Amino acid sequence: MQDWRVFLFDEMDTNLETLRSIVTDLTQEIASVQLSSTSEAEEFRIKFLGQKRGLITQLFKTIPNLPKEDRRDAGQLLNALRKKAQSTLDAAKEQTRSHSTDLPEIDLTLPGRQNQWRGSRHPITLALEKITDIFHRMGFRIAKGPEIEDDWHNFTALNFPEDHPARDMQDTLFIDEGDQQKSRTLMRTHTSPVQIRMMIAGKPPFRMIAPGRVYRNETITYKSYCLFHQVEGLVIDEGITMSDLKTTIYSFACAFFGEDVKLRYRSSFFPFTEPSAELDIWWEIPEHPDGGRWMEILGSGMVHPNVLKAVGIDSERYTGYAFGMGVERPAMLHYDIKDIRIFYENDVRFLAQF
Ligand code: DAH
Repeated sequence: MQDWRVFLFDEMDTNLETLRSIVTDLTQEIASVQLSSTSEAEEFRIKFLGQKRGLITQLFKTIPNLPKEDRRDAGQLLNALRKKAQSTLDAAKEQTRSHSTDLPEIDLTLPGRQNQWRGSRHPITLALEKITDIFHRMGFRIAKGPEIEDDWHNFTALNFPEDHPARDMQDTLFIDEGDQQKSRTLMRTHTSPVQIRMMIAGKPPFRMIAPGRVYRNETITYKSYCLFHQVEGLVIDEGITMSDLKTTIYSFACAFFGEDVKLRYRSSFFPFTEPSAELDIWWEIPEHPDGGRWMEILGSGMVHPNVLKAVGIDSERYTGYAFGMGVERPAMLHYDIKDIRIFYENDVRFLAQF
């Protein structure tokens, strides 16, 4: 396609004046042009700046036909025109680029991305499920109780004396002090109040566990945190003895930690059990001077007659055992985690390992 203006100029009347008027025409045309899409910009480029047939390119080719003394002026005119065309084109390109988003085009025919990390379950959830599952297979039913408790369920019914240090502000996070000790509400400090709720709601025999969160106003260290999990256990029936408790706990420890678990019972004290014992598990730590250390994981004992009395169960006819185990500590042993705080930091680098 050859523009008639160039055609005429080329064929006939090769002089500076005619060139000047053509350049004026084209300058106006370029100034009024609207380039709103990539294809319009490309059309413009071909028309004015195309390597072979672009108008400006062709005008340049006519310079040798001009009288010698006009060639310099003609060159300057055409250079200015080319500059103008080029800057119009550049501006249009810039404009269309900023209008379109910078996102790469989406190819809907590509296969979906595989093996994306979909998140993982928290190690505490995994440990809780494992513990619950073991007891479930031993015939325990699963119960739940509230995390906000009252003083009576959390302490009094469990045979805590009025002046017991655990009722102190040091350990218990109180919500509402209440007018009397009896009516104050608190964050439960252990899962033992669920025993009370179960026994009030039902009739013996009982064989249940109650997993859940508990809260304490404790100094935070590598092995204690202000919030943690427990699994409470309660078995009440005729003729239950301490050896039932020991056998159950031993079976649990073998199932959770493995047959070669190293453990010890230590006699202890709790207001709601008599006699009471704690269970320690040997935690092997190669870099430790003793090669490891004992880690206490649960408290247990025979349910105190005062507790049975508080919930209206005949303590002459029924006996039972109870236990309350931490979940964080067995999880630390199981997954070889050295600091309890890491469970609550939500660091994805840690969580992604489970
Ligand atoms: N509630 C106790 C605590 O949090 C643990 C415990 C000890 C629970 C003995 C029991 C038990 O059921 O019999 O430290």
